[in-house]
Amino acid sequence: MNKLFSFFITAALISGCAGTRQIRSVTASLKDMYKNDFLIGAAVSWQQVEGKDPAAFNLISRQFNTITPENIMKEEELRPAWGEYDFSRADRFIDFAKAHHLQVNGHTLIWHSQMPAFARSIESVDSFRTFFTDHIRKVAGRYSGKVQSWDVVNEALNEDGTLRKSPFLNKLGDNYIADAFKLTNEVSPGTDLYYNDYNNEQPEKRAGCIALIKKIQQAGVRIDGVGIQGHWHVGKVPFKEIEESILEYAALGIKVAITELDIEVLPRNFTGAEVSQQMKTETNSNPYVKELPETVQKQIADDYGRLFKLLLKHKDKIARVTFWGVHDGQSWLNDWPIPGRTNYPLLFDRNGKPKPAFYSVIAASKR
Ligand code: G3I
Repeated sequence: MNKLFSFFITAALISGCAGTRQIRSVTASLKDMYKNDFLIGAAVSWQQVEGKDPAAFNLISRQFNTITPENIMKEEELRPAWGEYDFSRADRFIDFAKAHHLQVNGHTLIWHSQMPAFARSIESVDSFRTFFTDHIRKVAGRYSGKVQSWDVVNEALNEDGTLRKSPFLNKLGDNYIADAFKLTNEVSPGTDLYYNDYNNEQPEKRAGCIALIKKIQQAGVRIDGVGIQGHWHVGKVPFKEIEESILEYAALGIKVAITELDIEVLPRNFTGAEVSQQMKTETNSNPYVKELPETVQKQIADDYGRLFKLLLKHKDKIARVTFWGVHDGQSWLNDWPIPGRTNYPLLFDRNGKPKPAFYSVIAASKR
């Protein structure tokens, strides 16, 4: 049965059983429709690894061929205390991926935002370098051959393209980024090594990101790819900047991945994903508690469809597209920058049912 016929059969099945409580399995599959183009993935939570998210359970292995741990491989989660590691959850994540024949993108070795408290309080540079070096060697070494790629360094840039004054920069100097890639390569030579950031499709930050990548390359250190996180806003997806960025990053001889894709539909007066930013609740902050209006459903469907057509146009440069969550109920955007909102940034709703945006992405895969 060819893809187009299978797609329409699915759409009929789903619409026919719209009233039934059980969602029949969706025949159309993102990973199958894009299997000759690029990997399709999702960020997976600990609850989902434990099987405590029924809406996600059938979707993960059906729709995706790669997964990223949303939180359980971050420094804070792996390092309970100085000299101690707790790999129990991360190991379970790897077992989960293996059981479901899924590739893994490790996230993330070096990130200022989720450092363990003890690491933040380290005064001595030598001790901090020991924390840094041991972390990379121990974590990347343990999962060598088990993860296909790593977000080696995450969000090291400011919006103007300069280096963020993180504890890593302050203590170790600006070579810490190349050092992180060098150390990771030593213990995990077969893994694709990525630099990952948000808004690095925007010209100023893109220029800083290109300079950072060139510095790593000029140091003779391996870097295989750049992650454009893709935390965008409905009606304001920067298509022009995304295309320019794909071309400019690919010209460096590296892969491009969209690593944390979601499309914000709620009011927010700033872009990006600076997790430390907050926003105060206003009267219209949470306008769609009951459901998403048809007009916004259509707008986000159009944005996703147009985005995937653009990515397909450059599929030779795109290695992977990972959604930052499996379904709307999981999304971090329900609680950031204002806790307790009802957001709708992904392709599947809170019950794991495909939204119009899903069918737009499937339709975009038709040649
Ligand atoms: O695990 C604890 C739980 O024990 C506790 O009861 C609960 C309430 O305090 O907090 C839980 O930890 C939360 C964690 O998510 C797991 O749910 C943290 O507070 C919360 O800050 C953390 O948020 C994550 C955020 O990164 C910060 O790490 C989001 O889920 C995650 O989606 C988000 O992802 C980041 C990427 O890693 C990097 N790029 C930006 C992206 C969005 O911020």
